[in-house]
Amino acid sequence: PNVTYIQPDGSRATLEVRSGQSVMDAALQAGVPGIVAECGGSCSCATCHVHVDEEWFVRLEPPTAIEVELLEFAADARPTSRLGCQIILAPELDGLTVHTPAAGN
Ligand code: FES
Repeated sequence: PNVTYIQPDGSRATLEVRSGQSVMDAALQAGVPGIVAECGGSCSCATCHVHVDEEWFVRLEPPTAIEVELLEFAADARPTSRLGCQIILAPELDGLTVHTPAAGN
């Protein structure tokens, strides 16, 4: 499935991501800026925070309690915030669009 990452300045990158890979993993591999992933995907740092396009947000699996808690500490958290390491790609998510928050997420 394809995932599009939009930067705060409006620049965008679309990646072909393997099913089973996370939004965070794919971004790290491709060097997409704005996704730091300090904890390496173990849902404990919130530096993989993204704002999911509203249209897509409702189609994702709901977040775990731990993810919800972590997101409370993310800078610029919004109702559509998710952790990139917890969004796992699947064929039905083809076209997923996420926004990376401004620096310091
Ligand atoms: Fe640390 Fe996602 S990479 S919470």
